[in-house]
Amino acid sequence: MTFPSEQELAQAQSLLSEGDVVAFPTETVYGLGANAYNQVAVEKIFSIKNRPAHNPLIAHISSLDHLRLVTSDHVIKELTPILNKLNSFIPGPLSIVIPRDNRICRAVSAGLDTVAVRVPHHPVARALLERCPFPLAAPSANPSNYVSPTSAEHVMAQLGDKIPLVLDGGQCAVGIESTILDLSGKSPRILRQGIISAEMLSEVLSVTMETLLGNNTNKQESSPLAPGMLKEHYSPVTPLKIIKSSDRAQFPENCGLITMHSFSPLLTLPGVQQRRSLSVNGEESEICHNLFKTLREFDSFGLDVIYIEPCERKGIGRAIMDRIDRASAKWADI
Ligand code: TXA
Ligand code: MG
Repeated sequence: MTFPSEQELAQAQSLLSEGDVVAFPTETVYGLGANAYNQVAVEKIFSIKNRPAHNPLIAHISSLDHLRLVTSDHVIKELTPILNKLNSFIPGPLSIVIPRDNRICRAVSAGLDTVAVRVPHHPVARALLERCPFPLAAPSANPSNYVSPTSAEHVMAQLGDKIPLVLDGGQCAVGIESTILDLSGKSPRILRQGIISAEMLSEVLSVTMETLLGNNTNKQESSPLAPGMLKEHYSPVTPLKIIKSSDRAQFPENCGLITMHSFSPLLTLPGVQQRRSLSVNGEESEICHNLFKTLREFDSFGLDVIYIEPCERKGIGRAIMDRIDRASAKWADI
């Protein structure tokens, strides 16, 4: 496994302590980190990403034992029963939204009373966080509105000249951003779908799917509940279109085709410049792992349009379609 040297980790620690930013790997996507207590440092993230100030950031900590870095003892006590139920997902690709402590600077929470918190599982993220006596505010390390990075090369390609250090921890295993679960209201609610699915959370929390999804069945599930979760997001530059059955007969010449698995009958259609399956057998975690990196790769081919096959909107498929819906929203009506 790729792991930064001791010297690089020490450099990251000192840059962060001095109020600078560092990009680092997590198991979901690469993050662009800064000291969550330091307003000036956090503002650097917003300016490097060109991120709107109303879109809050996730605060990362090395373990749930460090929750006191982001919230009060009182909140921790209240949350303990539910956190116990979530212990198989934390550390991991799950962020929780909870009432915040005042040390978390305004820019991180975008003026909200809550903060999104995540304990990443990735050994490099953990090694970095263990060195920091403060939480790391970190959005995905991409320019706002572009696809999230799943390798150090992705970060370097777009932000390399704007950030002093990118820690390389290899390819992100999960490949899409964390599930966001809001624990600040009366009942838990999913704000962003991820590889920890609604079904999995419903089971461990003994909460209905309807409650978790906020009564939003089918398409409305991805309505912007988290500030910054806009309908259009994550898009490549090349137009991306979800395949409808009427498209099959008329793929234009200079197009790319992305299917969910290698048995898709679409793969045999003629007139396609580039074709790729996101998985061999349709396994959802493999699809997530390959989705963003394939979109980036296809975006570099100079195609006129990229067609992508949809998958079923259940389980992890909800997270996959959420990302594909957002990435293609700009071109949905064309
Ligand atoms: O997997 C991930 O979550 C990655 C890695 C780096 O941890 N981070 C990530 O951050 O995806 P970002 O900034 O790209 O997405 C954070 C999302 C945004 O949609 C934001 O609106 C939401 O989290 N969010 C942050 N704080 C929130 C809060 N207090 N209440 C509701 N939503 C919040
Ligand atoms: Mg992002």
